[in-house]
Amino acid sequence: MKKLTLHKIVLSLAFSIFTSGVVAAEAQLLEVTHKNAGLVCKDCHVKNMKDNVRMTTCLECHDTTELANSTADHPVTNPHKNRHFDTETNCNYCHHQHKESENYCGSCHLKFDLVTP
Ligand code: HEC
Ligand code: HEC
Ligand code: HEC
Ligand code: HEC
Repeated sequence: MKKLTLHKIVLSLAFSIFTSGVVAAEAQLLEVTHKNAGLVCKDCHVKNMKDNVRMTTCLECHDTTELANSTADHPVTNPHKNRHFDTETNCNYCHHQHKESENYCGSCHLKFDLVTP
């Protein structure tokens, strides 16, 4: 009986951490971040909604050299400058706008456990 109660407390504690908003804030989709920064659909979907959004569109506002410098001291590895593509890895391999972003490097290198906004 005692064991069960403790188990329940641990469970509800875990649940309240989950619902406290800390987790939710970290998982904010980029579409929200960009909307809050004042972007509209047409800023990325330049010609029409069916067009693929290319990396060059991202580069109209984000600079690859500046990005590489800003994450140069990343404790895992620099996501914006690497052995394979230097500073020109396609942003969309890692960052997604309308669904959760992913860790492209981790699909081959387990040691690079990057958390991608
Ligand atoms: C910052 C750039 C950006 C903005 C702003 C943006 N999108 Fe996208 N959108 C993308 C990218 C990149 C993709 C390709 C999928 C991916 O990697 O997220 C995409 C894909 C899509 C797709 C294809 C299906 C899917 O979900 O992958 C739809 C539909 C879409 N966007 C609708 C919208 C609408 C509606 C808006 C405005 C409310 C919008 N987008 C604003 C970058 C953007
Ligand atoms: C029209 C300009 C514009 C375009 C195009 C654009 N962005 Fe952004 N992006 C911004 C602004 C503004 C911010 C917010 C900066 C801030 O508040 O720190 C931002 C923020 C971000 C962030 C930071 C999110 C965070 O949590 O720190 C990422 C990642 C990002 N953009 C990726 C992309 C990608 C990938 C593309 C191309 C699909 C793209 N952006 C296209 C203007 C743009
Ligand atoms: C290999 C995966 C990967 C690729 C490719 C990638 N990023 Fe990132 N990006 C990350 C990760 C991981 C972070 C979080 C870094 C941190 O924790 O400090 C990040 C952070 C960011 C930020 C917020 C931090 C800052 O310095 O302002 C922006 C903006 C951004 N990326 C834009 C881009 C753009 C634009 C591209 C394409 C030119 C791109 N990223 C390519 C993984 C990636
Ligand atoms: C499709 C699988 C794949 C992906 C995705 C990938 N790599 Fe690699 N990577 C390899 C292979 C295979 C090697 C060994 C061959 C070589 O040295 O080029 C390697 C070697 C490396 C090395 C040198 C050896 C080491 O382990 O230290 C680094 C650093 C590296 N990759 C970083 C990255 C980063 C950062 C990313 C994400 C932007 C990435 N890789 C994405 C397959 C991949």
